[in-house]
Amino acid sequence: MLMEQEKHRMMEPLFDYDVMGGQPALVGNGLTGMDILSVDQFDKAKIDYIFARAREMREMVEIVGAADLVKGNVLACIFYEPSTRTSSSFIAAMERLGGSVIPITGGVQFSSVSKGETLQDTMRTLEQYADVIVLRHPQIGAAIAAAEAATVPVINAGDGAGEHPTQALLDLFTIQEELGTLDGLTVSMVGDLRFGRTVHSLSKLLSMYNVKLNLVSPEILRLPLTTMNQVRDAGIDVRETHDVADIIADTDVLYVTRVQKERFSDLSEYEQVKNQYEITTELMTHAKEKMVIMHPLPRVGEIHYDVDRDPRAAYFRQVRNGMYIRMALLAGVLGRA
Ligand code: CP
Repeated sequence: MLMEQEKHRMMEPLFDYDVMGGQPALVGNGLTGMDILSVDQFDKAKIDYIFARAREMREMVEIVGAADLVKGNVLACIFYEPSTRTSSSFIAAMERLGGSVIPITGGVQFSSVSKGETLQDTMRTLEQYADVIVLRHPQIGAAIAAAEAATVPVINAGDGAGEHPTQALLDLFTIQEELGTLDGLTVSMVGDLRFGRTVHSLSKLLSMYNVKLNLVSPEILRLPLTTMNQVRDAGIDVRETHDVADIIADTDVLYVTRVQKERFSDLSEYEQVKNQYEITTELMTHAKEKMVIMHPLPRVGEIHYDVDRDPRAAYFRQVRNGMYIRMALLAGVLGRA
């Protein structure tokens, strides 16, 4: 015979279904269930929506640190290339939203990829455990192939020299937050415009706004023609030069990038173009008082460490914005924001 207390316990629900903090799932956000593969998938309305959610995430983190918004959801984070910021910020984002992470970020040599498992089989495996997959891969188009194989949303965390859409969204968000607008700006991109996937994605996103683009690179690292055409077709005024001195005084956003050594098949070519640019405190004396310097990081000599003390140096604020944008994207894709 059951004791009275035990009867009462058996009548209680097994699960507390209010795990989402009482907030209903949103399916009308345009992001629910979406693969995030390219910035071409975004329009201004969607970007505004993500930025509004990112600001809410920032406020929530500053006030309480974490929430239960995606409690019970699991993110698989698999990186076939090294990463500090993208991997850590996706993990931090999922954990601050109350979700869990399968992190395969310490090197796929510790996964069955090292035994020859295909990308497709890896995706079909991870989707058995996870509700969303974040993938970084050295091949252009790998994220598209992964999304075709997986039934859960795939987020492109960088596909070779292709795209890095979530980085571009956090870059755009940083410009908006630092300068208060995305229109009427002159944005100068410096360094490896050929292999820099963040440049490819950001220049396409910026093309939706009223901006001027300065492209500063060595001849062999110019922006690829397909991206250049897309930007010009959008009506953007583009100027190319090899010298930062040509553009520094007119620039509102100086977006500096690393020469992507890992993409060169001929390292002697890399040797010719490495260390071509360095932003110094002296150069900064020629810049606008309200200019902002950004870098997707890591840097390997493109910005002198002394510049870090300049209030215009926004690259570590940019890093933090990455977490808020990725919180907004994960919550959106999972139908919770
Ligand atoms: N910005 C960026 O992609 O940095 P990581 O390579 O450290 O992820």
